[in-house]
Amino acid sequence: MTATPTPSASGRFPAGWYAFPHRDLLGIGQLQTHEIMFLLAEAEQWVELNRQPSKHSNSLSGLTIINAFFENSTRTLLSFEIAGKRLGADVVNMHAAQSSVKKGETLIDTAVTLNAMRADAIVIRHASSGAVRLIAEQVDCPVLNAGDGQHEHPTQALLDALALRHALRERGRTEFAEGLWGLRVTICGDILHSRVARSNILCLTALGAEVRVCAPPALMPAGIEEMGVKPFHDFDAALDGAEVVMMLRLQNERMNGQFVPSTREYRHLYGLTAKRLKKAEPNALIMHPGPMNRGVEIDNDVADLEGRSIITRQVEMGVAIRMACLEVLTRRTRGVPGWSAADMAGEIV
Ligand code: NCD
Repeated sequence: MTATPTPSASGRFPAGWYAFPHRDLLGIGQLQTHEIMFLLAEAEQWVELNRQPSKHSNSLSGLTIINAFFENSTRTLLSFEIAGKRLGADVVNMHAAQSSVKKGETLIDTAVTLNAMRADAIVIRHASSGAVRLIAEQVDCPVLNAGDGQHEHPTQALLDALALRHALRERGRTEFAEGLWGLRVTICGDILHSRVARSNILCLTALGAEVRVCAPPALMPAGIEEMGVKPFHDFDAALDGAEVVMMLRLQNERMNGQFVPSTREYRHLYGLTAKRLKKAEPNALIMHPGPMNRGVEIDNDVADLEGRSIITRQVEMGVAIRMACLEVLTRRTRGVPGWSAADMAGEIV
């Protein structure tokens, strides 16, 4: 085994050393810090391309990508579709409402069918935690998790890190050019049911951020401290000194019973209002993965706060991150060098 080399300032690794040895992207939990940094660095070229009038690359020309969404989604599906198309792939969307799943087909049968169609990458969203891994085990091509139950949503965490990196860079915070060492981030909302929270905790702590999570007691997972974060029930205390505030919605569709007394009370205690935002650092950045419930977890004037809210930037970075993930994961299929075990065992040059 060779030691992990240090990437250059641009995040690139020495020739012959492949920084991403995984076939699938199932979760941030499977990644090492340098692999996260590698994907973030790879996304930069796509951020650039996406800002050009002509946004086309032929990298994935001839390849077929299936977006199999067993759970409703607007922005994530659109983002993956745009990403695949900008890379030149043929992209097909499969919606659960139109699928055989509704006719009683098992997940395994669906996976076998998708596999027989010889997709070159399958992007899956599913309401059950672990369903994406189950499908990945049945197919021969790379599988990307676009959100599975309350487990993980890896591309969301990666795009959030990329959006943060860009916003901090624009503010001249050069100390965050690579990792996010010491950055104070507060994540507030339904931590218990949120895959975005889970993936972000894993990603942000791997990049060195100091993460606080805030939720009502009923929506805070037991033992969350073991993930290296500090739990709070008092939002004002959680905001004190925060440089980034990430708000999450109540995942009502995953709640079995009453978790909060009322929306009104939730907003009162955990809603990000302009007044409450003053508890954070004067210039704190505001994030939300969407969809937002304006007037519940976040007020209009905060969500749209010029120079502070980076919510639309998150959406922009989503396309670039998904392009990076699709391009990297299809390298083996396309014969782009640097994937094989030999490369991994090879000398660092
Ligand atoms: C998130 C999701 O689906 O987990 N949304 C998204 O991907 N844009 C967050 C959410 O649904 O609250």
